[in-house]
Amino acid sequence: MTTNNKNHGVVLITGASSGIGRELALEFAARAETLVLVARRLDRLERLREELLRRYPGLEVAVLAADLSDEHEAERLLAKVSEQAGAVDVLVNNAGLGDSVLFDRAEWTRTRQILRTNILAVAQLTSALVPRMVERRRGGVLNIGSGAGLTVLPNAAAYVGSKHFVAGFSEALRADLSGTGVTVTEVCPGPVESEFDQVSGSPGGMIGAPPQFFRISAAQCAREALAGFERGEARVFPGRAFRFVMRVLPLLPLWLRRKQAAHTAARLRGTLNG
Ligand SMILES: NC(=O)c1ccc[n+]([C@@H]2O[C@H](COP(=O)([O-])OP(=O)(O)OC[C@H]3O[C@@H](n4cnc5c(N)ncnc54)[C@H](OP(=O)(O)O)[C@@H]3O)[C@@H](O)[C@H]2O)c1
Repeated sequence: MTTNNKNHGVVLITGASSGIGRELALEFAARAETLVLVARRLDRLERLREELLRRYPGLEVAVLAADLSDEHEAERLLAKVSEQAGAVDVLVNNAGLGDSVLFDRAEWTRTRQILRTNILAVAQLTSALVPRMVERRRGGVLNIGSGAGLTVLPNAAAYVGSKHFVAGFSEALRADLSGTGVTVTEVCPGPVESEFDQVSGSPGGMIGAPPQFFRISAAQCAREALAGFERGEARVFPGRAFRFVMRVLPLLPLWLRRKQAAHTAARLRGTLNG
C-alpha cells in the first residue's frame, strides 16, 4: 500500500454524513471503485453522493441509512452491503459520538448509545467483513479512535473508555492479521472541526483535551488518515502540533495525568453543586 495511484476497490465508510467521515469519502473517492456510505441521515448521504458523482463520474456510490447503535440494523446493513457492493476491501470505522458529563450523572440510554456505536458496531462490522479480506489476502481496516483513547480525560468516561477499546482492538487486530495482506491502522485525532463537540454537548471542546489552538480541519484529518493508512502505519496522529503532544504525553507519568483529571472533575462537580 505505497503508491499514490492506489485503487482501494470497495470502501465502506461509516459516519459519512458529516465531519471526518464525509472528508474521508471525498479522499477515498479518487482511489476507489465503489464507496459505500453509511450514517443515519440519508439526505446528507444522498447530497454527498451527488457531489461525488459530479467529481468522479466513473465512481459507484451506494448510500445506506443505518443506526449502528442497533445491532439488528447493523446486521441488515451488512446484508445490503453484500447484495449491493459485494466483498468490502476497506472498512472505515469512523462513526462515533461522545458525551460531556460526569459518569454518575450520565443517562444510561445515552451511555449505551455511545458504547454500542463506538465499540460494538466497530467489532460487529469488522467481524463480518474481515474474514473475506483475509480469504482474498487484501484489504484493510481504518479505525478512527481518538487521542482520548490513549490517556485519561475527565467528564467523558463512556467516550474515553470506548476509544480505549478502539486503541486496544486496533493493535490486537493488527497483530492477528499480520502476514495476511490485510492492514490495520488506527487514527487518533485531537480536536477536529466537525459536529462532534456539538453532538457531545461540549461546544468549547472536551474538558481536559488540547485547546482550540490544536484544532485541525476535518479535511486535513482525513488526508493524513488516508496517507498513514496507505503507508501501512499502525497509528496516525493527525496535525503536526497534536502529533508532538501525543509523542510527549507518554513521558508524563500516569499518576500525574490521573491527578490532573481528578482535580478537573472535582472542580467541575463543585461548580455543578453550586
Ligand atoms: N471531532 C473531533 O474533535 C474528534 C476527535 C477525536 C476523535 N474523533 C472521532 O472521529 C469520528 C468522527 O467524528 P466527527 O468528528 O466527524 O463527528 P461528527 O461530525 O459528529 O460525525 C459523526 C458521524 O458519525 C455518525 N453517527 C453517529 N452515531 C451514529 C449511529 N448511531 N449510526 C450511524 N452513524 C452514526 C454521524 O451520522 P448521523 O448522525 O447521520 O448518523 C456522523 O456522520 C468519531 O469516531 C469521533 O469519536 C473526533
